[in-house]
Amino acid sequence: MERFTGRRALVTGGGRGIGEGIARRLAAEGAEVIIASRTLDVAQAVADEIGARAVQVDISDTDAARAAVLDAGPLDILVNNAGFDDPGFFGETTPDRWRRLLDTNLMGTFACTHAALPGMVEAGYGRILNVGSEAGRIGSKGNAVYAATKGALMAFSKSLARENARYGITVNTLVVGPIDTPLLDKVRASEHGPKMVAAMEAGTLLRRLGTLDEVAATAAFVLSEEASFITGENVGVSGGMGIGSA
Ligand SMILES: NC(=O)c1ccc[n+]([C@@H]2O[C@H](COP(=O)([O-])OP(=O)(O)OC[C@H]3O[C@@H](n4cnc5c(N)ncnc54)[C@H](O)[C@@H]3O)[C@@H](O)[C@H]2O)c1
Repeated sequence: MERFTGRRALVTGGGRGIGEGIARRLAAEGAEVIIASRTLDVAQAVADEIGARAVQVDISDTDAARAAVLDAGPLDILVNNAGFDDPGFFGETTPDRWRRLLDTNLMGTFACTHAALPGMVEAGYGRILNVGSEAGRIGSKGNAVYAATKGALMAFSKSLARENARYGITVNTLVVGPIDTPLLDKVRASEHGPKMVAAMEAGTLLRRLGTLDEVAATAAFVLSEEASFITGENVGVSGGMGIGSA
């Protein structure tokens, strides 16, 4: 299937994990892909494999994020995937740690989106997908500020969907649950790792972690023409985690 032939897509944090999965899927289906990543060597290796372009940018620097998006040229598709968590009970966290989370997960997303929107408005077409988390929908013990950033992304997407529907632009949030990314191997290998992974699995109705392919397939659907009547939605890909306790 070549659902993205002729489409130019930028995926932030597309050098590994979920972003890499989405970048690979979009490229496989014909998109011209730009991977925007903090670490160029990692992104370049993936880009070389899939025939994409890699650019180095730390999106928490809003000027740099803006420049990287503008430099990519007019975009049909923007996937705001770059994000991170900094776990810890809220009482033990500090304003510096809050700020770092806000700077990447929100400010970086705002900056990339702000830079991409005018081109989409002019073209009368655009697909924006913000990669959220079930933490933003149902909360997450030990991840309060991360959850707050992901909850804010859902409100951001809905508001942008309202503002830009008239220009043929859809904006949705992918509400991701626990996914088996390479990073989880580190968790598994740690002292309490197996218990932590078991708890993640138990939090889903399907009692397992999701795969990168499952996330990429859902993202690709939402970004495709098949989803042309879907905007402002929180699209869960979390094994049912978002509907209540398992
Ligand atoms: N893995 C999961 O189970 C899970 C669950 C829910 C939500 N998510 C969300 O999915 C997204 C991707 O997560 P992942 O698990 O693939 O993580 P990851 O750490 O494997 O990948 C994140 C990518 O984003 C990049 N990145 C982070 N901060 C950046 C910055 N300031 N500028 C540019 N690039 C930056 C990293 O370099 C990395 O390439 C994140 O937004 C995360 O919050 C992941």
